Amino acid sequence: MAIEEIDMEGPEARISDKVARLIETCSRGWERFFADNDGHQAPRFVPSVPERVFAVLEEVTTRNLPSNRVFCEWGSGFGTATCMASLLGYEAYGLESEEELVRLSRAIARRLGIPVEILCTSIFPEGYDSYSRVDGAALVTPESLSDHNDNDEDRGPLRYDGMDIDIAEIGLFFVYPWPEEQELIQQLFDVVAMEGAILVVYHTDKEIRVFRKV
Ligand SMILES: C[S@@+](CC[C@H](N)C(=O)[O-])C[C@H]1O[C@@H](n2cnc3c(N)ncnc32)[C@H](O)[C@@H]1O
Repeated sequence: MAIEEIDMEGPEARISDKVARLIETCSRGWERFFADNDGHQAPRFVPSVPERVFAVLEEVTTRNLPSNRVFCEWGSGFGTATCMASLLGYEAYGLESEEELVRLSRAIARRLGIPVEILCTSIFPEGYDSYSRVDGAALVTPESLSDHNDNDEDRGPLRYDGMDIDIAEIGLFFVYPWPEEQELIQQLFDVVAMEGAILVVYHTDKEIRVFRKV
């Protein structure tokens, strides 16, 4: 896999009033959401610890690791990280498959006046998918499905439905994957991101890893 890990020693961040307000609003949103869904009907959603995520996103930005200021959160949930990226100066996109979370996250961003674009779509672009194996999940690519007569060059640049830019124009990705999908996410990043793109992966609040596509 052509990705390398970048050292990130648990940075601390000063949380501005705007970020604190965002965190507070999202936290209240989760509480209400979990109460309304009483555990059973709730989509499989676990939020990351926002202060830790902000510290890493800010550090990555201060160190100028991404080659541009375009951000995408894979599985954006309440859109907290997407909003944080916007506050850090990124053109910020969130991709979320659960309609209810899309609706709630858009409402929070609107209420706080934070410009973000949350799309109700899968993180797997058209032609890509995942399949379950005993040891986790693996990436399905158009290449693994097509026969040898298909010509790769017939396909245009990869793009998510509803996004005005290509995936190859995204400089910074953030994701909090299920444990069994951590490797899958690295594979997806390796296949669809541009060279030099940065991927921040939240494993736990004490383990947030940063990768670069080389
Ligand atoms: C562990 S939660 C993390 C939410 C948010 N990123 C955070 O850090 O708080 C994972 C989120 O990814 C969404 N998700 C899972 N698989 C997805 C897929 N294939 N496409 C889009 N969203 C997905 C889930 O609905 C859920 O909101």
